[in-house]
Amino acid sequence: MSYRIAPSILSADFARLGEEVRHVAAAGADWIHFDVMDNHYVPNLTFGPMVCQALKPHAKKPDGTPVPIDVHLMVQPVDALAAAFADAGADLISFHPDASAHAHRSVQAIKARGCKAGLTFNPAAPLDVLDWLIDEIDLILIMSVNPGFGGQSFIDSALRKIEHARRRIEASGRDIRLEVDGGIKPENIRRVADAGADTFVAGSAIFGKPDYKAVIDQMRAALA
Ligand code: DX5
Ligand code: ZN
Repeated sequence: MSYRIAPSILSADFARLGEEVRHVAAAGADWIHFDVMDNHYVPNLTFGPMVCQALKPHAKKPDGTPVPIDVHLMVQPVDALAAAFADAGADLISFHPDASAHAHRSVQAIKARGCKAGLTFNPAAPLDVLDWLIDEIDLILIMSVNPGFGGQSFIDSALRKIEHARRRIEASGRDIRLEVDGGIKPENIRRVADAGADTFVAGSAIFGKPDYKAVIDQMRAALA
């Protein structure tokens, strides 16, 4: 299993975002997780496509290898912003299907612009839309907290949802990443991987500590 760690810059120092992105990339981030909140679908407001575009040149390893930008849209409606993020350099774009009037169209719009497309599920959201969309997507993002804020506690029912999502991915026979977002730390990452996740978002656990590499290394050691 090839695991990916996706630090969420929601918990980074917003006064030094470019530097924070370079720093966490050098510390071993596989993806940069970019949380877009609109104060409508979720009760908080973060950053938009212009900030993504400004950060794009910073999303690379010290040797210049690009680090993919993983945009998590917590916005309603979806399509216009998804297109703007594709143009701003996003590599993967996920959205909440309950925030889109036409989730299939939103997936098509993301893929038509050359990005990978993901569907995100809140703690109380069913996985039903996967019945009809699993053949179209590249990523499933399971929320293990209610979206809107960093630093919340992991909701245990997410483990069962991850198991369900893993079974659906296996049944599809497709190459789909299974990402988990919220409350991930070195102490619980193994349990989340055992449930079937392969990609882990972590905000406060990484940016809340002085040594980003030490935390990412601890996470990889727990997964090894
Ligand atoms: C919450 C965001 C998360 C958040 C996770 O709405 O989607 O990506 O940054 O933060 P932690 O890792 O602190 O729970
Ligand atoms: Zn997120």
